[in-house]
Amino acid sequence: MKINDDIYYIGANDEKIDLFEGQYKVQNGMSYNSYLIKDEKNVLFDTVDKSVTDVWLKKLEKALNGKNLDYLIISHLEPDHSYNIGLLAKKYPDMKIVGNAMTFKILPNYFEDIELESRKVEVKEGDILNIGKHSLKFYMAPMVHWPEVMFTYEETEKILFSADAFGKFGAIKDGEKWLEEARRFYVGIVGKYGPQVQTVLKKVQGLNIKMICPLHGFVLKENLIFYFEKYAKWSSYEPEEEGIVIACSSIHGNTLEAGRYLESYLKTLKKKVCFIDLTREDFSYALSKAFQYDKLVLMSSSYNAGVFPPMEQFLNNLKTRNYQKRKVAIVENGSWAPSAGKTMKSILQEMKDIDIVEPIITIESTVKDKTKTELEELAKSI
Ligand code: FEO
Repeated sequence: MKINDDIYYIGANDEKIDLFEGQYKVQNGMSYNSYLIKDEKNVLFDTVDKSVTDVWLKKLEKALNGKNLDYLIISHLEPDHSYNIGLLAKKYPDMKIVGNAMTFKILPNYFEDIELESRKVEVKEGDILNIGKHSLKFYMAPMVHWPEVMFTYEETEKILFSADAFGKFGAIKDGEKWLEEARRFYVGIVGKYGPQVQTVLKKVQGLNIKMICPLHGFVLKENLIFYFEKYAKWSSYEPEEEGIVIACSSIHGNTLEAGRYLESYLKTLKKKVCFIDLTREDFSYALSKAFQYDKLVLMSSSYNAGVFPPMEQFLNNLKTRNYQKRKVAIVENGSWAPSAGKTMKSILQEMKDIDIVEPIITIESTVKDKTKTELEELAKSI
């Protein structure tokens, strides 16, 4: 598929995948993008995951139409993009491989048989590769999402090849929306690296960009400021909007009942609320919602003198994504020695800039009138 006169989209969808990177549920599949620029020199941006090798290779051969492949640019070495580098190196013995110092440090870990000395073109920040009508300028983007990641700006058509950045979960198909699945992808995969994302955004913010070609999800062609603003917001750890996420982990259903009571009471106050049952919802949806809204209520059973594991995992996942700048309330449940509140609070205290709402509310086993009154007070004050 052509995305303009000289540039071809040759990526492919994996619609059978259930877990991306072994942990993120992807009910709508996943796309692995790869782009070919045909010019005096033919240049490929990245290979694809092993699951879609055959489809991708046929598209590549068709687009090249018998011509040689002169350069492979490695934007990102993670196997979902690099799996087929060895195959290409064999198929195109004259193909040069373009990467940066870190690319060539990591690459032999995956492809020890590729002879690099004659092939490698090592680039650094601001270097330009002229391939005919098109010229390609490289911007290093370390930790977005691995240390070797780099963006490439195609100066003639004004296209940004952005590696994982601006990508999303989900196969490319009609009706796919960007925001929800791009946020879940960002928070889950790149969320820890906000400062590094901000650094690369600053590098490219002055460029005249007409199109963004990410390695996952569709090519972005219109209203590009929207996508940049979302990335600026997410990487700053500022909430996108006002609203309350109730994250609930319940053993026997009593904490869940309390959570649902709080949810319905908040709705009577016309507050925007998002309820998540941590025992059933994929963790990445919960993380994504926590990043989206400005307030969070944690509600959990006590367990083994600590907190019920689904909540502990959720909090640890927030911590590893550098979750910060939020107001958080705590509701615990316990039948003889409630321990969840103290445990949740201590994990929250390891995060930056978290405003913990006092007091912690304790449910004694079941929801009582006293519980409802305390939850109503919390709803009014948060
Ligand atoms: Fe799509 Fe970080 O790999």
